[in-house]
Amino acid sequence: MARIEDRHPGGADGDWFVDTRCIDCDASRHVAVDLIARNPTDGNSLFVRQPGTPEEIELAWRAAMVCPTRSIGHIELRRPPVPVFPHDLGDDVYRLGHNAKSSFGAHSYFVRRATGNLMIDAPRWTREVTRPIENLGGLAHILLSHRDDVADADRYADHFGARVWIHSDDGDAAPFATDLIHGTDATTVAGNVTAFPVPGHTRGSVLYLIDGHLLFSGDSLSWNPRRQRLHAFRQACWYSWPEQTAALGRFAASSLRFDRLFCGHGWSQDLDAEAFHAHLLDLVELMPAM
Ligand SMILES: [Fe+2]
Repeated sequence: MARIEDRHPGGADGDWFVDTRCIDCDASRHVAVDLIARNPTDGNSLFVRQPGTPEEIELAWRAAMVCPTRSIGHIELRRPPVPVFPHDLGDDVYRLGHNAKSSFGAHSYFVRRATGNLMIDAPRWTREVTRPIENLGGLAHILLSHRDDVADADRYADHFGARVWIHSDDGDAAPFATDLIHGTDATTVAGNVTAFPVPGHTRGSVLYLIDGHLLFSGDSLSWNPRRQRLHAFRQACWYSWPEQTAALGRFAASSLRFDRLFCGHGWSQDLDAEAFHAHLLDLVELMPAM
């Protein structure tokens, strides 16, 4: 719950506020675009204006429920009038919210599929996630993009009896995993999901391509809304930038395409598949100089 006594003094005056425990993870800014922005002086998220319309109030609640430090709140209200997560993003993809501090506020997702529902990376453990997943038919597989975003995957796997997938090079971060991905070749996992290893951000980072067009990229690839192009985090590359460049190059050279990008950190984006592919080729060419 956000702490009014720790309210950041920089936000817009009014009922909604952000406290100073914010860790600058960006999650709230992704779900409340134009309402919450980064304070350039200290990185704290702040309300640039108070929400006015019902739609904006829903965005504010979504920001409150995605924030891993529970730093966003209302001076009186404690709960949204109706649940704001899972958030239906279309194509049977849902943002789960309730981001974990242990994954530095990474986003996690749920995909409903006839062959077994999927969770991509995990939120913090809460009944506010398990209840709706139960209503959506449970969980068959948890796909972990890399070691940073495991969060409470073990508890969700245990609760739902789900299989857990991770690359063997990040496997020590999820010793409860039931299935390991090896090497750098694209592999079919979890019932017609393609896992494409992209060592770089971490040694065991993996892209997951679902239904031939939905790409879940963890922290290996994101969208830069300011420059309107694909982006990779040079300053948050923990294993090898040359390897990440080579791996994204292999992905670009493959026949795999995507028109929806869902990120752990960074901005998600929808775009025509060929336009995304052209941006990916440009990024790979730019990466050595980044
Ligand atoms: Fe990461």
